[in-house]
Amino acid sequence: MIHDKSGRATRVALVTADIFPDLYEDDHPLRDALLARGAAVDAVRWDDPAADWDGYDLVVLRSPWDYTSRRDEFVAWARTVSRLANPADIVEWNTDKHYLGELAAAGLPITPTTFVEPGEAWTPPEAGEWVIKPTISVGSRDTGRYLLPEDLTAARALAERLSAAGRTTMVQPYLAAVDTAGETAILCLPDATGALTFSHAIRKGPLLNGRGERLGEYSEDITTRTPSARERDLAERVLGLVPGGADRLLYARIDLVPGQDGAPLLLELELAEPTLFLRTADGAAARLADAILRRIRVSSRAG
Ligand SMILES: Nc1ncnc2c1ncn2[C@@H]1O[C@H](COP(=O)(O)OP(=O)(O)O)[C@@H](O)[C@H]1O
Ligand SMILES: [Mg+2]
Repeated sequence: MIHDKSGRATRVALVTADIFPDLYEDDHPLRDALLARGAAVDAVRWDDPAADWDGYDLVVLRSPWDYTSRRDEFVAWARTVSRLANPADIVEWNTDKHYLGELAAAGLPITPTTFVEPGEAWTPPEAGEWVIKPTISVGSRDTGRYLLPEDLTAARALAERLSAAGRTTMVQPYLAAVDTAGETAILCLPDATGALTFSHAIRKGPLLNGRGERLGEYSEDITTRTPSARERDLAERVLGLVPGGADRLLYARIDLVPGQDGAPLLLELELAEPTLFLRTADGAAARLADAILRRIRVSSRAG
């Protein structure tokens, strides 16, 4: 066990949801690497009323994916946790995809997106393949792919359902390169000095395989990937625009898909609770465990 000056073991909470009492499997290598380094590790659901968050040296968000229907409650909870990674202001900013509009305004190439606010009238595009999805979602929930004009009724129905629930709708062209090149997820973790650095990358196959809303269980086709120089460069630029600076982050995932001309577009920046695909890269779980313990050492010296 690692102990502090008073002899107390270093304690890390990995935050999950009630459906993953033993964590999501992607985080098992992280838990094991922390245990191997002598830390005490608890899997705790974010909405556990009995959790003692102040009793942890660091509270690390991992799989709290049931927050999407009560995101205000989730953000309010995050604000009460003093030692949270990533920090609560980042969680608030990043769990609503309106941040994509900010990044576009700052000049970054994002997936072309129209935001339709609740109650606002939406004029559907006349033709082409389109994706409709909410600004607050994980795991492609409430997300559909529509060929217009054939699927107009179904497309309108999803947009109207989101609007009626007070949710913002995003309308994007279906990026067909996701079917061939796939989606590239670039994972960044702190290096030995604590600076956020490229760690590894994966290719994810397409998730919207049929027309209409994606429903039910799905499996992700994940393989390792060496990102191109353009993809690495865009990931750097995205991180350069993170409010408060990227070096506050314990982890970041940048999801990119090629646009029509082949240049990468940002599909999503995941700073709240991304799957990190730790098994796909040698040493990734060890690097993250070391970064967690380093952060705890640095903040206990500072505090
Ligand atoms: N514009 C798009 N073109 C092609 N595929 C898309 C598009 N938007 C979403 N998808 C598919 O849906 C998945 C989920 O969408 P995403 O924007 O990543 O939201 P989240 O992962 O938060 O649910 C993506 O991984 C991708 O497979
Ligand atoms: Mg995604």
